Amino acid sequence: MEKNKPNLDLIFNSIWEELNFGATQRKHPFHLCFMATTSSSLTPESRIVILREVVFDKFLLRSNCDLRSSKANEIKENPKTTLLFYDYEKKIQIRIKSKSHIIEHGQQVQSIWDSSQEISKRCYYAVQPPSSILEKPFTNDLLDFDNKDLGINIFGLIVSKAYEIDYLSLNYDGHVRCRFVIENDVVKSSDWIAP
Ligand SMILES: Cc1cc2nc3c(=O)[nH]c(=O)nc-3n(C[C@H](O)[C@H](O)[C@H](O)COP(=O)(O)O)c2cc1C
Repeated sequence: MEKNKPNLDLIFNSIWEELNFGATQRKHPFHLCFMATTSSSLTPESRIVILREVVFDKFLLRSNCDLRSSKANEIKENPKTTLLFYDYEKKIQIRIKSKSHIIEHGQQVQSIWDSSQEISKRCYYAVQPPSSILEKPFTNDLLDFDNKDLGINIFGLIVSKAYEIDYLSLNYDGHVRCRFVIENDVVKSSDWIAP
């Protein structure tokens, strides 16, 4: 067998291994995820979210959000999301088409909230919902830790189920690009595609 020849199965496994590192290692390039949704006016919207958890055998990726945010409402209206990752050192781009849903309240939300760091929890005590117009620039004075409607009550999970993955690795000898389609928790097709 040709040495170092790219192999689709190995690439697929390496994608999920690296995504898992992204979820568990703060300095890994995949810790930051560029999540795209579609707004009600059909404009594409994208923003950074932190990748918090990956479940390889179910092809799930999780982030956290404020339930009052635009992204949470956009996902409720249209679950189709695209997640984008880039590793600058390895020159690898991963684009994941996914169907996302928002989890509000319940045991899973509670246990993730309980295990979150104080600095992460702090974001969820802002009185004004995300994107509200403010009279002055935001400072932490606008947090209200005694407000019982805030904190865990506006803390939600975004769970995204991958159904198509586009992998691109930039190389001097030729860029390697491939696409994986996932259906019913199995990889239905894997193809090399033109970069
Ligand atoms: C480094 C970084 C990490 C962020 N992580 C999150 C996150 O995990 N969840 C989140 O909802 N917003 C996160 N944000 C803020 C979003 O990018 C965005 O500004 C905010 O959530 C409002 O987005 P929306 O109006 O599209 O809902 C992060 C921003 C930065 C710069």
